Amino acid sequence: MIRVTKGHRLRVIPDPAAASLDRSLADQVISALGVVLRLSVARGIGPVVMSGVALRREDWSRERSLLRPAKLTPALVEAAPALDLSRPWVPESLLPLYGTQSHAALSDAQRLRYNQAYGRQLLEEFIWLERYLILAPVARLSQASRLDPDVSSVLRSFASDESHHVASFAKLRELAIKASEPKVSTSLFNPPRSVCAFARLAARFPIKFAFWTTVIQDLEDYAVKVGQTYKRDRTVDTAFQDVFVAHAQDEARHCRYDRLLTAWLRPGGPMNSFHERVADVFQSRYRSTSWGLDGPIRELAEVHPEIAGKVNDMIADAAAVRRSGLSPIPTE
Ligand SMILES: [Fe+2]
Ligand SMILES: [Fe+2]
Repeated sequence: MIRVTKGHRLRVIPDPAAASLDRSLADQVISALGVVLRLSVARGIGPVVMSGVALRREDWSRERSLLRPAKLTPALVEAAPALDLSRPWVPESLLPLYGTQSHAALSDAQRLRYNQAYGRQLLEEFIWLERYLILAPVARLSQASRLDPDVSSVLRSFASDESHHVASFAKLRELAIKASEPKVSTSLFNPPRSVCAFARLAARFPIKFAFWTTVIQDLEDYAVKVGQTYKRDRTVDTAFQDVFVAHAQDEARHCRYDRLLTAWLRPGGPMNSFHERVADVFQSRYRSTSWGLDGPIRELAEVHPEIAGKVNDMIADAAAVRRSGLSPIPTE
């Protein structure tokens, strides 16, 4: 699973403690969300209200002058070489099991299968995050009336880039499923209801619940580091490498948009600490060890039944790594 980080350092929250610490606020937010959504459906939602928010016009104007077409597009995926089943699809250091005894004990064939299953999960995770935590709230913001023309242009370009990214990751995932033997069809990334509820909150009320700007800032910083890790890796499959390196080139620009969005939608004051707190709750639920670690391990056990008895130990090892908060990307 992508580790959504805070700035350049992982925010380490011991899992059980985090769950109880955050349960109260999370339950309040989710329960408020239910009420607000029911009222909204009943009454209809007007245009996003833009008054009372700070806008650094010169920064947006500069970004408008720097707009570029997306590097990662479905055309790039179509032009990439066929997927190579004999190579890893993900740099080893990005794997949730990397550095564990369970991982070291696997045979080369088992390690490769786990790697490629996680490669598909990584694609699904980027698709989910970019679709629901970037595209959806940005599209909602773009519908606002009286939007500054520079902001409007940058948001349209941002949404267009992420649409290309989602389509490109989906195309690569399709190719990965076709290439995998024996055939696979299951989805490996299925966030729990509470995580999905937070995403719906961001999509529906991108200003009132602006925690998502912190989450995507961390995500896009992480995407840049993932691309750098792919670029350095000489063993990884070329198509996966091309896709994640191109993605990182677009994400470097998006990191600036994320900072502008945060400054615009969250201009300090008590509400900002609310948004930060909600972002923390989202991240602790997102990084919970209770989901997201088992899919590639179970797929490995289906293909290599000889390790079926080790599945629980492997999941426990992956959970320990996630709890430790160790960066999945080695520092240079
Ligand atoms: Fe992206
Ligand atoms: Fe992005």
